[in-house]
Amino acid sequence: MKRTCFNTELSEKNVGQEVTLIGWVSKKRNLGSIVFIDLRDRSGIIQITVNEGVNLPDIRNEYIITVTGTVSLKEKANPNLKTGAIEIIAKEVEVINTAKTTPLIIADETDALEDTRLKYRYLDLRRPIMQSYQDIRYQIKMAVHEYLSKEHFIEVETPILTLSTPEGARDYLVPSRVHHGKFYALPQSPQIFKQLLMIGGFERYYQIARCFRDEDLRADRQPDFTQIDIETSFLDQDQFLTMMEGLIKEIFARTINYEVKTPLRRMSYQYAMDNYGSDKPDTRFDIKLNDVKEIFKNSEFGGFKDVEAIRAIVVNGVAHETSRKVIDELTLEAKKFGLGGLSVIKVENNDFTGSFVKFLSEEEKEALKTQLNIKDNDLLIIAAGKYNRVCPLLGALRLKYGRQLGLIKPGTFDLLWIVDFPLFERDVENGQITSTHHPFTRPRDEDLKYLDTDPTKILSYAYDIVINGYEAGGGSLRIYNQDVQKKVFEVLGLSDEDIKRKFGFFVDAFQYGTPPHAGMAFGLDRLTMILGNTDNIRDVIAFPKNLAAVCPMSGAPNIVDNDQLKDLGIAVIDWEK
Ligand code: AMO
Repeated sequence: MKRTCFNTELSEKNVGQEVTLIGWVSKKRNLGSIVFIDLRDRSGIIQITVNEGVNLPDIRNEYIITVTGTVSLKEKANPNLKTGAIEIIAKEVEVINTAKTTPLIIADETDALEDTRLKYRYLDLRRPIMQSYQDIRYQIKMAVHEYLSKEHFIEVETPILTLSTPEGARDYLVPSRVHHGKFYALPQSPQIFKQLLMIGGFERYYQIARCFRDEDLRADRQPDFTQIDIETSFLDQDQFLTMMEGLIKEIFARTINYEVKTPLRRMSYQYAMDNYGSDKPDTRFDIKLNDVKEIFKNSEFGGFKDVEAIRAIVVNGVAHETSRKVIDELTLEAKKFGLGGLSVIKVENNDFTGSFVKFLSEEEKEALKTQLNIKDNDLLIIAAGKYNRVCPLLGALRLKYGRQLGLIKPGTFDLLWIVDFPLFERDVENGQITSTHHPFTRPRDEDLKYLDTDPTKILSYAYDIVINGYEAGGGSLRIYNQDVQKKVFEVLGLSDEDIKRKFGFFVDAFQYGTPPHAGMAFGLDRLTMILGNTDNIRDVIAFPKNLAAVCPMSGAPNIVDNDQLKDLGIAVIDWEK
């Protein structure tokens, strides 16, 4: 191959030079005496002009061709192309390989169904925008390698075939052929190993780590995903967060040339839940939750009596367009969050309207008007019930309206730390206590006293980084005292035997001089989504699974031969029967 350069390395500076290019035919326009070809390589597209007299073989879209010709200035530049000012006047065109008609159009704009795109992912990946996501992803990784190695970190790999790591999702299990009836678990994260590396004296570890979680998939979740996983010894929370802010700054600068202003804002978990109804608040727009319980302390309305929380949001300027149907949809949303319903009030001609108004006293109306600064055409949505249901519901509704009303300025970034998470949370359904992060998170010193009496009161040294309403990463200072770790396991309902079987090796290790340590993991996929400006995680993973956790291209997961099952000592049983 005699290629002289990539397409977009050429510009007006090269006019007059002879070059040889290679790539895919993106488009061919035949004007009779003259043929234009858009030639695409990884760097981008350049126009080839084939004049009469030049021997042009039969070429179609996605054929691979090599072209030798002269760089020349175009009469009229094409502003949509990086190489739009120039064209290549072909002398020789040769077909290197042919291609069938592709099942999807290879261009940024495509109307192909996602499952078609995933089935022919190698063609989908030819679309320039898909390559740009991978480019951003790679730039993030390069920034990570460079910044962290400057800060004396080293990358260490940890096992993929391992024991369960408690991040709160279901494990993917791998049966052992050598030990029938025994299973490895794929790591939900390298958590236990990175802590053991701290005990092993490494002080500063990182890993671009593959993680596996069998959980319900969403637009920002994949069953196998990648973390930028980090652990450090001998840093306090402030020192650690400052170091991580440096990393984030570097990542934004390198990938999209954006300057992140540090130090980042820190918001307590409680403040975020109270005001935004979410522990990953998008604070780029100003709709907030308001506590209106006091206003309704004497309310006649049954739904407001003896409830834990009554909160309201005000959406400006939408009352007139809020139809019965919209209100029904809002109520449906409330039901999804486990609440009976919602009280929706419209402000029209400076008066409250809607079916709920009959339950409002004049006093309550006045109080709402002043406390919430209500204006004409505002929509007031009030939810009452358990705090853990009311706030997330209103949090979801504020987001819905923020997006719907275009309150978020495109191209803006909002980064903040959420800190002071509760150590434990109680499941709203079954009342069971679980870790808010994971069981190795260190309780705040001043709250240790509640471990025996009221563990849900304990706050922890845990932090999440939130970017544009996404949880882009999270971590904590770790417990480094064996007794505290045991206690936490006990609160989580693990028996001595459980602790020994699941984490015995880990708890034992704490006896041998464990340094105070802290760490976190960024979601590499989510960072790429945010920086690439897509809200679909599958766009930024080369070969992802669909929402049913299936790879439409390879067909995974699939059945296996009986011989393989026999080797593993496994028979497939339909447990439902
Ligand atoms: P956590 O469980 O919060 O913490 O995960 C860290 C970050 O990983 C990303 N993430 C995911 N991305 C895509 N798909 C998923 N299924 C998925 N799950 C998580 C998120 C999240 O913030 N071991 C701890 C970190 C620590 O304490 O150091 C951990 O894994 O961006």
